[in-house]
Amino acid sequence: MIPVCEPLLDGNEEKYILEAVRSTWISSAGRFITDFEEQMSTYCGTRFGVSCSSGTTALHLACLALGIGPGDEVIIPTFTLIVSANVVIACGAKPVLVDSDPDTWCIDPQKIEEKITSKTKAIMAVHMYGHPCAMDSIMMLAQKHGLKVIEDCAEAHGATYQGKKVGSFGDVGAFSFYGNKILTTGEGGMLLTNDKTIAAKARLLRNQAFEEPRFVHREIGYNYRLTNVQAAIGLAQLERIKQKIAKKRHIAATYEKLLKSADLTLPVEKPQSLNVYWMYGIVLGSSYGTKDEVVKRLGQNGIQTRSFFCPMHQQPVYRSGSSLFPKVDGHYPVADHLFKRGFYLPSGLPLSDDQLTEVAEQLLACRKTTLSA
Ligand SMILES: Cc1ncc(COP(=O)(O)O)c(C=O)c1O
Repeated sequence: MIPVCEPLLDGNEEKYILEAVRSTWISSAGRFITDFEEQMSTYCGTRFGVSCSSGTTALHLACLALGIGPGDEVIIPTFTLIVSANVVIACGAKPVLVDSDPDTWCIDPQKIEEKITSKTKAIMAVHMYGHPCAMDSIMMLAQKHGLKVIEDCAEAHGATYQGKKVGSFGDVGAFSFYGNKILTTGEGGMLLTNDKTIAAKARLLRNQAFEEPRFVHREIGYNYRLTNVQAAIGLAQLERIKQKIAKKRHIAATYEKLLKSADLTLPVEKPQSLNVYWMYGIVLGSSYGTKDEVVKRLGQNGIQTRSFFCPMHQQPVYRSGSSLFPKVDGHYPVADHLFKRGFYLPSGLPLSDDQLTEVAEQLLACRKTTLSA
């Protein structure tokens, strides 16, 4: 089986883990935590890094630190992981959905303004599958309407827009270091910001809102801490981010060469954007059968794939409406099409060129004309 994604631990991971273990600093303090936070924020061009236990908790902390709460609305793409909606709801606020740009699959900046109301507090820009959102338009809209901007960079470590790294545009950038991400700590996350107050608030809330005197709490906090052992892995990963992005771009260039005339919509790289191609997504043209048929056939032939996201307006948990998330209306044809016809191919860093060729050949063999020949 060619797996859809496997982590690559080919740097100082083992050495740093041993150092952490031998030092006995294995919990949520230690030199790897501070080094990882500092080096990640420096790499992305922000002042502060606050590590935490996942991308989800980074986003939750971001919303809390920005003061998002009951009565607020947050604009999110409908085509995203459900986490985007869940964290907004966890704060007592309401997610408001926007369709995707048909080329980049990121939130469509042209469709944001019509969703802004007097309750809108923030825009969440999710950099989809490695491509940066159109951050100039999003920042302009935010400035015009006095809104906060949260960047979800879980899938786009190192991606740039107009030469600037994602995570450094908005009030907060949130990263995931889950096992399939470009940088991984197994599980983990980080919030980046240039704002000292936001960083301090996030640090407070990730650590049970401990203040002085200890055990007397003025706020509700969480245990969202990263461990020194996880940070040791993260630091080693970050040291090799250049090579990782180069490999992702090589995978994308190879697939593009092999698949460009195969009736598929392939990932793009818009002008002024650096796509880090976290996963190589494709959208099937009409000469293929249903997505389920193609995915099943690929699986039978040893190719693992993963479906594109089910958009928020199609989620059973939200569809019927509730006091938390009133029934969504509107049409989201781009997101619907992406979910109906889109999935991603094996894109892990350890993949060889021979494996990429095998994947492409198996996919080409799924065309209806080929199947009936
Ligand atoms: C766009 C997006 N946001 C948030 C997350 C959540 O990250 P985590 O799994 O680390 O909680 C993920 C990935 O898993 C993601 O793809």
